Amino acid sequence: MDPALAGASVAVDDASPPSGSPLLAVEGLHAGAEGVEILRGVDLVVREGELHAVMGPNGSGKSTLASVLLGSPAYEVTSGRVLLRGEDVTSLPPDARARLGMFLAFQYPEEIPGVPISQFLRQAGASRRGGDLSVLEVRVRLREWLDRLGMDASFGERHLNDGFSGGEKKRNEVVQMAMLEPDLAILDETDSGLDIDGLRTVARGVETVRSARPALGVVVVTHYRRILDELAPDQVHVLVGGRIVESGGPELAARLERDGYDEWQR
Ligand SMILES: Nc1ncnc2c1ncn2[C@@H]1O[C@H](COP(=O)(O)OP(=O)(O)O)[C@@H](O)[C@H]1O
Ligand SMILES: [Mg+2]
Repeated sequence: MDPALAGASVAVDDASPPSGSPLLAVEGLHAGAEGVEILRGVDLVVREGELHAVMGPNGSGKSTLASVLLGSPAYEVTSGRVLLRGEDVTSLPPDARARLGMFLAFQYPEEIPGVPISQFLRQAGASRRGGDLSVLEVRVRLREWLDRLGMDASFGERHLNDGFSGGEKKRNEVVQMAMLEPDLAILDETDSGLDIDGLRTVARGVETVRSARPALGVVVVTHYRRILDELAPDQVHVLVGGRIVESGGPELAARLERDGYDEWQR
């Protein structure tokens, strides 16, 4: 078996090139849909191993940013660039970005009837790696990860998103993130529709995956501060009106929780 596929028990093989380009660099990104500009000049740098939180009021462009980073055809980039390890991916389709190591849980339809999670992960993993994965290999790793994430082994045989609660959908995303071994994961509104327990499970899941893959970069896009009680971001960014209006440490999230977004919305 390819040692890179052997999961968390194997040493992480993606050490960064010395003084290389950052994992993700977003430069002057303008993007919109149907002729309306939504992102109006976003700059963001995420290095290996870092967790960034992008927070903002409803309608500020958070989901648009996540979608554009993942190459969603629903949005048009009008200027600026998205660089992955220095490589310009701005015009690449989602599947090409996935092969380069970006995590794409959301490009897939909400519900795919008849496809068990294990089978989906085998296909997605093969596409990510550019080679076949054996059924057994995927089963073993999936069982390992479900165990580490405190999830029931039967989860892998459930059909993708079929009748999932909000919490189960989010857990499923964490399992995908673990199994597909991305270099960069963009998680949108990971806390929406989750109760506190579900939120903790997901946040701990993200931390479990990060500790198994210390070089993983994560961007969490969220309206609520709650998930940041469980995840310790290296940087917090405030997105208002399609621009990052302020960046800081975790104390910025606390300030947002206390004072809201008013000071930037006047
Ligand atoms: N595909 C789209 N077509 C037209 N307008 C859109 C589209 N997606 C988002 N918008 C608009 O862009 C703004 C930002 O939306 P969104 O990125 O979903 O914000 P957030 O996730 O921060 O709540 C909103 O005014 C929304 O109505
Ligand atoms: Mg949103």
